Amino acid sequence: MKIRRSCISSAAGPERIMAICCIFAVLLSSVSCQAPARKNKTKIKIGVLVYDEGDTFLKGAINEMIKSAKEKSRGKADVTITVGDASGDQNTQNDQMEDMIANGCNVLAINLVDRTDPTYIINLARKNDVPVVFFNRELVRHDLDRWNRLYYVGAPAVRSGMMQGEEIADYVKKHPEIDRNGDGSIQYVLIKGELNHQDTIIRSEKSVSTAASYGLNLDRLAEESANWSRAQAQNRMSQLINEYGDKIELVICNNDDMALGVIDDYKKRGKKTKELPAVFGVDGTAEALKCVENGELKGTVYNDAISQADKIMEFSIALAEKKDVSQVTGSNERSFYIDYQKVTRDNASSFAAKLGDQE
Ligand code: BGC
Repeated sequence: MKIRRSCISSAAGPERIMAICCIFAVLLSSVSCQAPARKNKTKIKIGVLVYDEGDTFLKGAINEMIKSAKEKSRGKADVTITVGDASGDQNTQNDQMEDMIANGCNVLAINLVDRTDPTYIINLARKNDVPVVFFNRELVRHDLDRWNRLYYVGAPAVRSGMMQGEEIADYVKKHPEIDRNGDGSIQYVLIKGELNHQDTIIRSEKSVSTAASYGLNLDRLAEESANWSRAQAQNRMSQLINEYGDKIELVICNNDDMALGVIDDYKKRGKKTKELPAVFGVDGTAEALKCVENGELKGTVYNDAISQADKIMEFSIALAEKKDVSQVTGSNERSFYIDYQKVTRDNASSFAAKLGDQE
């Protein structure tokens, strides 16, 4: 299998040119991986559409999907992957889907921009009989039930919240000095992802309630959304530090990139690791794992992009080959969840090695 840049050739009419130009721009920055053509190999074209290719977690997931497709296509199918980046715009994603179908994709893996608005995508998929594996941004059950060739691969948000809450409770128990003012309560700020994302809603609630269920007294000073972004989190944190200063004893973040943004701001202010409040994230990105190892981040929860990507490819290839997917999954369920894992200083290096192995 070789990796090459992809381009679309199309006999498009003038009214389509704009959209084709858009998709061409997308494809210039995307990767296509294709096995050398061999007789009797099924030709599978997978279109991967993501809400924002700049998102660290998704960047990793896309790389893993490409690796997994290469692996799975060895000697069997002839797989091409084309990636479309919606840059946060659902209408752009809808147009990209149309173009991918027009260019012969026989299955789509879609990370919705707006998980509450999949109607256009579902109708288009049904009309063209192109199955979809949604991933990471979970649509509601009612939408998934609108066609039996729609699937979802993700992670159980509630478990990430619980694990983060347990890590916090455990850390505070072992490090009572986190309670700087010694008032018996931990003053915290919560840095949230996009407000309508299932992971934001569930992690935010579950993390705090789980820590409390272990007997921790928690006082919320503030909560802010930083839309999963490191830069936005640094900015929000800067305002929060100006307002609350050393009163902040704990920072709970819905993902690692935002936790890194929080740490960035403290470092910019010249704070040393031991002067930081306890900061926690979710994802287990390569950079966050390093920060767990060096003690800047007290814990994270591993969001297994490698296994999720592998499942997405397994489903996509089975669907494109018109196989019975329940045979692949061993279940009639069309939603598939890969569990999270706790990461602390004790085991961070084994996760880093796992990510390293994949490079
Ligand atoms: C990840 C975030 C990511 C988001 C994108 C979440 O599951 O934890 O890092 O930005 O998905 O949808």
